Amino acid sequence: MSIAIITGASSGIGREFVNKLSSYFNNITEIWAVARRENLLNELKDITDIPLKAIPMDLTKEACFDELCDLLKQSGKDVGLLINCAGYGKFGSYADIENLAALGMIDLNCRALVGVTNVVIPFMRQGAKILQVCSISSFQPLPLMSVYAASKVFVLNYSRALSVELKPKGISVTALCPGWVDTPFFATATKTKNPNAVTKYTFMQTPERVVKQGLKATKKGRMVSIVGWYSKILYVLGKILPVKIIMNTWLKTQK
Ligand SMILES: NC(=O)c1ccc[n+]([C@@H]2O[C@H](COP(=O)([O-])OP(=O)(O)OC[C@H]3O[C@@H](n4cnc5c(N)ncnc54)[C@H](OP(=O)(O)O)[C@@H]3O)[C@@H](O)[C@H]2O)c1
Repeated sequence: MSIAIITGASSGIGREFVNKLSSYFNNITEIWAVARRENLLNELKDITDIPLKAIPMDLTKEACFDELCDLLKQSGKDVGLLINCAGYGKFGSYADIENLAALGMIDLNCRALVGVTNVVIPFMRQGAKILQVCSISSFQPLPLMSVYAASKVFVLNYSRALSVELKPKGISVTALCPGWVDTPFFATATKTKNPNAVTKYTFMQTPERVVKQGLKATKKGRMVSIVGWYSKILYVLGKILPVKIIMNTWLKTQK
């Protein structure tokens, strides 16, 4: 009896993880879908043949970690797969983004991801998998997405280091790095004082493609999975080019 916990399941990439899960993981007997919008979580029961439990939860609230831990203790089940997908970005300079929205990105993308991971690991056995949804924005600093990109640097480095720590337990950690993905992410990201700060979304990917690659890489226990050849080139450039050149080129592409 292994559970898959998917955060950010109500929309976009997380919703697609729910949809595709049974095609890639046949050891999962229940999905726990976590996000704030309960009605959308309940609708997920129509898109998966795995029994699904809706867990409405604001992951930026401190109490949610104890709540999740209690639910796991009461269930008596182990967690075979954790997918941390909840996250948001905001486009614009430091002055365009409300302070609470900037801090909220750190709270959800970094703090909640660590909090959920730490709660879940004790309920995992050998062979369990963790998938952390990261981004190609983790490969370099990005003006006009400064906090978001930095939050994903955190996710990438944390996930890599955790994968080494968890290796002796036989638990794998995969950081999935997609490029732009066609989801409601952009509606949230552009709700700032400067909605036109970032408007060029080169090589937009579909959630289907990202999720397929993510689930395959997670099954294989890959440490990092970069989606698309364009993203892979950006990864290599991020390693070899001076960071000033990368940031200036990025800003030029947005003009
Ligand atoms: N779309 C892209 O271009 C792109 C590219 C690279 C990486 N990513 C990453 O992919 C992940 C999913 O994003 P998406 O593109 O699928 O966007 P999305 O459709 O907006 O999904 C975001 C998810 O996060 C949940 N969420 C937001 N605030 C939450 C909170 N306080 N507590 C619990 N859940 C919360 C949302 O559910 P509720 O609103 O119901 O709470 C929703 O399910 C994010 O980590 C994002 O950074 C996206």
